[in-house]
Amino acid sequence: MKKQTIDKTPGRLDFTQSVTGLILAIFIIGHILFEASILISNEMMYKVTLMFEGYYFFGERYPGIISFLAGAIFIIFIVHAATAMRKFPSDYKKYKIMKEHMSSMKHEDTSLWMLQVVTGFIMFFIGSVHLYVMMTQPSNIGPYASSSRIVDEFMGPLYFVLLISVVSHAFVGLYRLALKWGFMEGKNSKVSRARFKLVMKAMILSYIVIGLFSLAKYAYVGYTHDFSDGVKYESKTIRVGEHK
Ligand code: HEM
Repeated sequence: MKKQTIDKTPGRLDFTQSVTGLILAIFIIGHILFEASILISNEMMYKVTLMFEGYYFFGERYPGIISFLAGAIFIIFIVHAATAMRKFPSDYKKYKIMKEHMSSMKHEDTSLWMLQVVTGFIMFFIGSVHLYVMMTQPSNIGPYASSSRIVDEFMGPLYFVLLISVVSHAFVGLYRLALKWGFMEGKNSKVSRARFKLVMKAMILSYIVIGLFSLAKYAYVGYTHDFSDGVKYESKTIRVGEHK
């Protein structure tokens, strides 16, 4: 009898896409909050930066840790995009069929999938620019350096688009993952699905609001601070050296 072979590649690619997506979503949930430390004070954002540079652990600043972290996230980001790209509508005909399907069914989950395609495409470019800057200029992060980048280096508009895209993409992604991994198969899956969707929308709204407030604060510091002495922030309480 002829042995039937099952191609495990699509399943493996699908699993890789889910796991990398989960890691990135968890990363972003933390990222937006850490970076919102500027809303408390410039000093707090400086302390968070020192923490990521390993200062509280090694007693010295190692910005290389940020480069390493950004490099690792970049690799996960690329693997996620590469495995997700297989599912994009590959030509105009397929796209048209899908669009007709979406409008005839008015199915929100199909529209959510389309939102993932569009936001993913946007992030592919803007996310790469941001990650590259973080990787190559890890010493240039802090309340003044970040604010100067947002205002003087015109990163503000890019961050605005990236914020809307990444927050929607991350929470819609988590919702779809929960659906796929069977978290909504309770007694009444319809009710459970509606609840998950409500949480998803609430999280998207909350994170966009937090992100917009942070962006506004960075812009405020960028516009009001006099950078003639450079962009290094001088803490009144902490004096540290730097190890590059
Ligand atoms: C380890 C990797 C990363 C590091 C170290 C990092 C660090 C930072 C820092 C310090 C800022 C403040 C602005 C600045 O200094 O330019 C920022 C802003 C931002 N980052 Fe990242 N980031 C990383 C990865 C990502 C990724 C993968 C995304 C999404 C694809 C992302 C999305 C954003 C957004 C949307 C903002 C603006 C947030 C807001 O409006 O509050 N970051 N990031």
